[in-house]
Formats: sequence, C-alpha cells, structure tokens
Amino acid sequence: MSKLTVLEFPDPRLRTKAAPVAVFDDALRTRVSDMFETMYAARGVGLAATQVDCHQRLFVMDVSEHDNQPHVLCNPRILERRGTQMEQEGCLSFPGIFADVERASWVQVEAEDADGKTFVLEAEGLMAVCIQHEMDHLQGKVFVDYLSPLKRSILLKKLDKQRRQAG
Ligand code: NI
Repeated sequence: MSKLTVLEFPDPRLRTKAAPVAVFDDALRTRVSDMFETMYAARGVGLAATQVDCHQRLFVMDVSEHDNQPHVLCNPRILERRGTQMEQEGCLSFPGIFADVERASWVQVEAEDADGKTFVLEAEGLMAVCIQHEMDHLQGKVFVDYLSPLKRSILLKKLDKQRRQAG
C-alpha cells in the first residue's frame, strides 16, 4: 500500500467530472487500499478518487470512531433522500477550514463494492453527510460551493493564511 497525494483547493483537477468505474480488477483494489491508507493517515472520514487525481466514480469512507468500518462505494447513486440537516463539514482538500452545509439527513444509496458486487446502504447523520460530500467531489463540486460569496471568501482567506504560516 502507498499513501497518495491529496489535491488541495484551488487545484483545477478537483473540478473534473469522474467517469464510471467499468472494470473491477486488482488495479482498482490497489487504488482502494491506497485511498484508505491516505484517508486514515490524514484522519479523514471520507476520500473521493477525484481528490487523489483519479477520475473514476469511487470513494472510500469510515465514519466510525475506531477506523474499523470501512466502506467503498463505486458508481454510487442516491435512490432516496429524506429530511435536512445542517452540519459542520471539513475536507482533506481544504485543510483546517470548516463550514456548515445543509444536506439531506437520510439517504439510501446503491453502489458497487471493489469486486463489482451491488449493494444498498442506508445512512443518516455523519455518514449521510459524508456520502453526499464525496459524491459531490465526483461531480467536480466542493463544499465551499454551497456558501455565500462572503462566507466563502472569508474561509478561503483563512486557508491562504494557514498555508503561508505553514510555509
Ligand atoms: Ni472533501
């Protein structure tokens, strides 16, 4: 396994629309393992292939406290969504910044696993947020796109400032 480089905003590659996963082979499974390693090392709960410059419709997530409930979703599609929730989100492509985003509070999503087997997952709370956030990445969309221009500019200035301080 190897750790991958996570693209950071405003890298234009984050705006790429991913293509469907068509082949479920060892190369895909290696990619998935590398994405888990990268996500766990960065203390993230989700990572979309787009963020590691792989433009296939696939993401990994683990919202458990002890990093022991990994999920791989290839070609995810939302079958049903219910309710709304407003939660603070972060993103490995925006290190150190957080913002409230409104999402559906419950989703039912169908996807394939790394072997191409179809499954259905129902999620609420943080897992529902994560699924919607990662699916946006696959469309080239990022969480700050939901903010007002003023809020977005304040956050992006903060991101710049943190980068300058980090050298
Ligand atoms: Ni993200």
